[in-house]
This record gives sequence, C-alpha cells and structure tokens, in this order.
Amino acid sequence: MSTATAPLRVGIAGLGRLGRRHGENLALHTPDCVLTAACSPVEAERAFAGTKLGVRNTYSEFNAFLRDPDVDAIVLVTPTSMHADQAIAALQAGKHVFIEKPLALDVADCLRVEAAASARPDLIAMVGFVRRFDPSHARAFDSVQQGDIGRPFLVRSQTCDRLDPDGAFLAFAPTSGGIFMDCSVHDIDLARWMLGNPKAKRAFASGTIAVHQDLAAMGDVDNGMAIVEFEGGARAVFYASRTFLHGHEQHTEIIGTQGNLLIGQGAPRDHIVRSDVQGVRHQATADFFERFSDAFRHELAAFVDACRTGAISPLSLQDATEATRIARAITASLHHGQPQDIER
Ligand code: NAI
Repeated sequence: MSTATAPLRVGIAGLGRLGRRHGENLALHTPDCVLTAACSPVEAERAFAGTKLGVRNTYSEFNAFLRDPDVDAIVLVTPTSMHADQAIAALQAGKHVFIEKPLALDVADCLRVEAAASARPDLIAMVGFVRRFDPSHARAFDSVQQGDIGRPFLVRSQTCDRLDPDGAFLAFAPTSGGIFMDCSVHDIDLARWMLGNPKAKRAFASGTIAVHQDLAAMGDVDNGMAIVEFEGGARAVFYASRTFLHGHEQHTEIIGTQGNLLIGQGAPRDHIVRSDVQGVRHQATADFFERFSDAFRHELAAFVDACRTGAISPLSLQDATEATRIARAITASLHHGQPQDIER
C-alpha cells in the first residue's frame, strides 16, 4: 500500500471517449498520483495506455486488473451499465474507487454499491459529478451558502450538446440510460446541491426527436425537458438537447428570494465579443471537454487527495443514488406521459 507521503497508485478501467482524458489527466496533470495500470478489452486502448501514458501494466480482463498489487485506487470510466458490479468488485479487492457518473442505471444497483462501501469505511468511493469542481459552479455554491440570493427555491439547468450530424453518440446511447440519465443527471445533482439536498417528490417530463430518429427504437429523445418538485416547495426545471448548432451550452440558473445566479449562459469560449456588420457575437465552447477541462482535473485531484489523506469524499454515494433515483423517475414520466411519484 502507498502511504500518505507516497504517490497514490492508480489504475484506470475504460479508455474510450472520456477515459482517455482521465488517463491523460492522471498520468500528466494530477499531483501525488502515478498511473500504474490500465484495463480495456480493446487492444488499441491498451497500446495507447502503454505508449502515450507510460502505463506499466495493462490488462484485458477486469478481475486480473483488480489483483494488481501496484494499484491502490481504481478509476472507472467504463459503460454505465458496468459501474455497479465493477465498483463493488474494486471495493471488495480493497481498492479506493472513483466511478464516472451516473453511479448506476437503477437505484437497487446504487444501493448495492453503497452497501459495499459501508463495509469498507477505510476506502474512498466517489462519483464523478464534475460540475461541482468547476470554479464558476463552486463560487456560485459558496455565494448561495453565504445567503447572497436569500433562500434558493428554483434551479433551471440545461445540458445541450452540439449536433453531431453523424450521430456517433448513438453507439453508446443504448447503455447510457437515455438523455436524462446521461446528460440531465449532472443538472439533477447540481439542483440538489444548490437547493440544500431536498427530497424529490414528483417528476414530469416530455421530449421530442428533432433530428436523430433512431432514438425512437430506444425509447429515447434528442430534446427533453423535465420539472421536479421537492419537499418544502423548491422546484427544478431541466432541459437536455443533442441538437444545438453553436456548441455545447451548459448553463444553470439558481433563483432565490433575494436574487439570481446564472452560470455559463451563451457558452462563451473566451472573453472576446466581436461586433461588426453581422452583429455582436462570441464563440461557443465546442463540447463538454472544453467547457469542463479544469473541473475534470480538479475532481481527480480531489479524489487522489481524499484517498491519500483520508479526507471525506467530496461527493457521497448517497448523492449519486438520489441523482439516479430522480433521473429514473423523469425517464419513467417521459415514457408514460404522466407525472411520476418518486418512491423511497
Ligand atoms: P466509451 O464507450 O467511449 O468508453 C467506454 C470504455 O470502456 C471503452 O474504452 C471500452 O473499451 C471500455 N470497456 C468496456 N468494457 C470494459 C471492461 N469490462 N473493463 C474495462 N473497460 C471496459 O464511453 P464514454 O463516453 O467514455 O463513457 C464512459 C463513462 O463515462 C459512462 O459512464 C459515461 O456516463 C461517463 N461520462 C461522463 C462524462 C462527464 O461529463 N462526467 C462525459 C462522458 C462520459
């Protein structure tokens, strides 16, 4: 085992779209950490880990990877449908675990991970709700905590991806849990965080397919909106889209009795605003990597720090379970067209 003074030895599972970025961040940009192992069934991904990330031990098989004695902590960037079983196996093998969002596609699986983590209180288990590590969202949260906007009672939050005309995302859509579980789960976590973790009571959702007709066969939409009612009167409104033209626009508004905070509107790429005969405009962030590149680094640094120092994980598994619970209810409402009570 590494000690608090030694770097944390991390193994990563999954080197796809996001895993490659996490792998680069762990290998090159995360203090007090060394990326010692990687696991992927895809040969090219293992080769990437060896040659580009300098990883010593690569595995095609997850259980062999878990047995690596040079790994203290596992970072799971695998398809969502695998998270619960792999997280439980990692904890049972005595490894800290970072799990990409969402924790799992259904609440029962989330609770199984919670139980495995409770059996190992000496280990960190953390879910990657990256926006909590974004400097603007973190400052907004601090401002809400200081009472600057009075009592927050409404969050309006959206995650809108730039249109991918080839529909490449359709390849992972079947394992993602649908647009609300895949995209809005971030907004759900933000809303709970900003509103002081109220219990969700009821959800109502609707949606439409504007472009990607293949989603119909999966019961999914490419534009979805939802309203969630919380105990105590707070409300949240979510919007998710896969068809924006100008870029990836994630924005969140927190509305309180003494004012509002608005984060990210217009998705500005930088501080340049161009004015000419065509009007006044700025460039937009292309995708979530660009928008949240700092936050992705900060969240891994927080995970490594928690593992090394025993600090409390900045994001509890219970938060992740609640996000899945709400996203499930929203998705159920989308499917049957009626408000959905949120059971516990
Ligand atoms: P992807 O499909 O591009 O990558 C999945 C990876 O898992 C591939 O490298 C695949 O080879 C690997 N894999 C499959 N089976 C495996 C196994 N048994 N053991 C080890 N590796 C295995 O998917 P993507 O987009 O990278 O998403 C992965 C996870 O990250 C998902 O849970 C997704 O929700 C989450 N994600 C989070 C984002 C965020 O903003 N925090 C953004 C994008 C994805």
